Amino acid sequence: MLIAPSILSADFGRLNEEIDELNKTDCDYIHIDVMDGHFVPNLTFGKCIVEAVAKRSKKPLDIHLMVKNIDFFIKMMIEVKPYSISFHIEEEKHINKMIHQIKDNDIKAGIALNPHTSQNSLEYILRYIDFVLLMSVNPGFGGQNFISSTLEKAIRLKEMIKDNNLNCKISMDGGVNSQNINLLKESDVDIAISGNYIFKSKNYQEAINLLR
Ligand code: DX5
Ligand code: ZN
Repeated sequence: MLIAPSILSADFGRLNEEIDELNKTDCDYIHIDVMDGHFVPNLTFGKCIVEAVAKRSKKPLDIHLMVKNIDFFIKMMIEVKPYSISFHIEEEKHINKMIHQIKDNDIKAGIALNPHTSQNSLEYILRYIDFVLLMSVNPGFGGQNFISSTLEKAIRLKEMIKDNNLNCKISMDGGVNSQNINLLKESDVDIAISGNYIFKSKNYQEAINLLR
């Protein structure tokens, strides 16, 4: 399973050092939660900070948009040239247009689902995207408890992916730690995103080793 630390749980006063620490680990991506204070009751990173992270990071960036004005934020973030961008299906009517906007810039495109949103909402979208991000907490904050019904959703989603012979990955985001990651593995999740568990540990590589 691929591991993506979420820098929402990093010490923002020492952001460069935190990125350097992640560069020293074998993590696969750095997950960046962009929140606008409207889609979720929290505000995080704008373009300046994401650019600073991109400059310092040796890891590919995975940008998770938790925003209302998706078109505006996609246009902003493609300039940073991340590895991937995901946005929430709950907030967008013109899904295909947004996906193309991301993919036309050689960036992997993902759709994020809140815990209550069914995998069935992806039936006519799955074939166009590179990954689905399943939120296993309500979006907005790090350090919340894992919502276990997301595992059932991952299993059903994997069936849809296999039945249609698609090459679409599943990532799971929220409350992931060394105690529950085996459940993600059993549910055939491809990418584990983890914030608090990694950043609250003394040694990030050891925490990642325990997740692996
Ligand atoms: C929540 C974010 C997650 C969060 C994960 O809104 O999308 O990426 O940072 O952090 P933990 O692992 O602490 O739940
Ligand atoms: Zn996230």
